[in-house]
Amino acid sequence: MRFSVTDCCDIIIFGGLGDLSRRKLLPALYRCELNGQLPQQAKIYLTTREHEGEERELMRIQEWLSSQLKADECSKSHWESFSARISFYSLDVVDGSGEWDKLREAFSCKLVGDRVFYLAMPPSLYGATCEQLSQHGLINDCARVVLEKPLGYDRETSDEINNLVGEYFAEQCIFRIDHYLGKETVQNLMALRFANIQFEPLWNSNYIDHVQISLTEQVGLEGRTDFYDQAGAMRDMVQSHLLQLLCLVAMEPPHKLQADNIRTEKLKVLQALRPIEGQDVLHTTVRGQYVEGMINGSEVPGYLDELGRDSNTETFVAIKAHVDNWRWAGVPFYFRTGKRLRQRYAEIVIQFKSVGHNVFGGQSGQLESNRLVIRLQPDEGIQMMLMAKELNKFEMRLQQVPLNLNFAETFENIRSDAYQRLLLNVIHNDLSLFASRDEADLAWAWVDPIIEAWNGLGMQPAPYEAGTWGPDASAALLHSDHRAWHNSGTGRRKRK
Ligand code: BG6
Repeated sequence: MRFSVTDCCDIIIFGGLGDLSRRKLLPALYRCELNGQLPQQAKIYLTTREHEGEERELMRIQEWLSSQLKADECSKSHWESFSARISFYSLDVVDGSGEWDKLREAFSCKLVGDRVFYLAMPPSLYGATCEQLSQHGLINDCARVVLEKPLGYDRETSDEINNLVGEYFAEQCIFRIDHYLGKETVQNLMALRFANIQFEPLWNSNYIDHVQISLTEQVGLEGRTDFYDQAGAMRDMVQSHLLQLLCLVAMEPPHKLQADNIRTEKLKVLQALRPIEGQDVLHTTVRGQYVEGMINGSEVPGYLDELGRDSNTETFVAIKAHVDNWRWAGVPFYFRTGKRLRQRYAEIVIQFKSVGHNVFGGQSGQLESNRLVIRLQPDEGIQMMLMAKELNKFEMRLQQVPLNLNFAETFENIRSDAYQRLLLNVIHNDLSLFASRDEADLAWAWVDPIIEAWNGLGMQPAPYEAGTWGPDASAALLHSDHRAWHNSGTGRRKRK
């Protein structure tokens, strides 16, 4: 396998005018253009079944971009250089008809030179697309392929897709996207853990009481009815984003921050995840489905009304998990994710144990344990909750105060875009922020038995009102362990 050292790079997006391309990929590539991050001779080829001619499609792309970009990002000269890189091809990946030869001829890189195929289409088409790429001689020595999640519906269907793609691309040329890994704070988690001395000695069951990972959303189905109703929160969020975040929190320090080393350590975490099977699901998992309610003062419909039919798909999941290894023995990891919840935020909370002995006596007030909050969105930042003496008091009264690192205040110009970051990694052939096949397999192997047990036991999703924090059972999951969710989305300090 060779990789180009030239300035040319062909980026081919299948589903080039589809939703993902419009909302994420094209804005991300445009921002790369703005920052001068695209290789000089990079070309972007948008493929679709049909298009309405170059001029018309470029106009539409410009409209999409201007509706999404900030005013200071829209620049005539950058649009001109960006649009000059784009061309359109009508292709049918199922019957193989269309302008495949024209596309091959158009490539600026021939035998060598980076070639990126981004499959922004349903996973059921991945195999057929790779086959056509091969039949039409489009896979060169430096070609790689980017696959969107979720890859399949369970371990079996994921295997089928991976096997099909694997017939045409070697594993080190397959980039499985999990856009959470492109978020700045997720990468900052590694900086926090491995570039600072004070956390690593405490990062274990001697000092950590438990860990919470919350990915809560206010949005509902957003028109993705068929996809979401088949997937549900477990396949859509837990199998990928949540388990990837768990890996980064729980993994051992890798030898180097390189793909192989990181992947090896993440894999060990997934191998150590205690299976949840059969009756276990009744007391360690919660399923929920939203009914109508209020979000930000407006009424929103319930899941079934949005869907327009009956369904027992879950839109909320909470789980109590364990990583059975020396470092994490006895430390619960609580996950939750759901749609139409009270606030949108993504957070990792490390709850430390309490100090061994209280030297202050009863008058000082309750001694709260330290808590580290890693906020992925919105308002990216890191907060350490510490105990401090209240000022201007004669007696020793203690209270919990935050030590805040707010990225927007600390770093200028933080316009982090996960897709921009990940696309650049693909262009630079860096797999460190992408999941390996083994990781995806193990994630399915952990998730599948939970879903099977839900079905086997007929465990229906509990209804929860939109605009709340999910079903009561979610709070009860922690209450029964004398713990509570850290709802820092409530009453958050506003950014200046
Ligand atoms: C996607 C899921 O992977 O992540 C969506 O398919 C979800 O259902 C989205 O809304 C959340 O991403 P973010 O970056 O907005 O938290």
